[in-house]
Amino acid sequence: MVNLQVREIAVIGSGTMGHGIAEVAAISGFSVHLNDLTLDILQRALNNIRWSLDNLHRKGQLKEEPSEVMSRISVTTSLEDAVKNADFIIEAVFEDFNVKSSIFRRISEYAPPHAILASNTSSIPISELASVTNRPDKVIGMHFFNPPVLMKLIEVVRGDRTSDETVNVTVELGRRLGKEPVVVNKDVPGFISNRVFMRLIEAACLMVTGNEATIEAIDSAARFKLGLPMGVFELIDFVGIDVVNSILKAMVNRGFRFSGCGLIDERVKEGKLGLKTGEGFYKYP
Ligand code: CAA
Ligand code: NAD
Repeated sequence: MVNLQVREIAVIGSGTMGHGIAEVAAISGFSVHLNDLTLDILQRALNNIRWSLDNLHRKGQLKEEPSEVMSRISVTTSLEDAVKNADFIIEAVFEDFNVKSSIFRRISEYAPPHAILASNTSSIPISELASVTNRPDKVIGMHFFNPPVLMKLIEVVRGDRTSDETVNVTVELGRRLGKEPVVVNKDVPGFISNRVFMRLIEAACLMVTGNEATIEAIDSAARFKLGLPMGVFELIDFVGIDVVNSILKAMVNRGFRFSGCGLIDERVKEGKLGLKTGEGFYKYP
């Protein structure tokens, strides 16, 4: 039995994931308030959403004109304005516990008492974020995959104190967004998919640093033998090497055993972060 009717959604952070989540919500008919630190960042997010909507429209995959979908998205640099009327809030800022927990603390002050606070975190336990809010029963993980508009899966992560009602509302919302929600009942760092993804990364890194295989050979094997849509290193570039590094750090700090990956550390130091900076394991024109 689901009591809360979600009408307005706020998305906090408009980067790789936030802009895509806002787009998915607007396509599904919700009013969306998108928040980030500066108007320049928000303008870039709107440009990315417009590019994606035009693409879907050209292929007949959008029921409305792109401008109609865009008209449901408003942007603001004020966190309070973004969340004050929202029924459901999805946080998608940097994968850093201090940044996220300060945002959760402030959202829980500004948002209406009925609002659910969800995090798109890839690895930080939901119970840790819930503990800084005034409503731990209404805090949940809603983990989308990149790019949100094309990827079907959502991990719905239950924290220690998340209520059944919050889980049910989130699952129902995921379905209204056209996704396949999977409920993760154990709030372990990395949830399900990232625990598997990190093992693939570990094995691939060890083979390259041990001179057993090249990056290109491993990626070919992943695509053409394992049947993955992208190679392992290609996928790290796509996600963002800095993002993968932060996810790994968050997991390792909470007890996940990982043998390390110098290849990732080197590129983070050089600022070669993958697709978004034009170079990572590969170069992008
Ligand atoms: N919006 C609209 N259209 C898009 C798009 C977007 N965001 N991204 C790509 N497209 C379009 C492309 O423009 C292209 O259009 P045309 O056919 O008109 O050229 C079409 O989709 C196909 O794209 P590509 O030819 O570039 O590539 P593709 O066929 O390989 O599909 C993909 C793209 C769906 C991203 C596919 O490569 C894929 O599934 N990759 C794996 C993605 C994945 O595993 N994501 C999860 C990462 S892990 C994660 O997210 C969790 C975490 O916590 C880190
Ligand atoms: P990103 O670096 O592309 O975007 C983060 C955004 O948050 C930036 O635009 C930044 O300006 C904004 N931000 C930072 N502090 C803020 C604040 N105080 N208030 C408002 N906005 C703020 O990162 P991303 O790749 O979109 O990752 C965001 C979250 O999604 C992380 O938790 C990450 O683990 C998770 N995630 C990422 C992927 C991926 O493939 N990149 C996939 C699934 C989940």
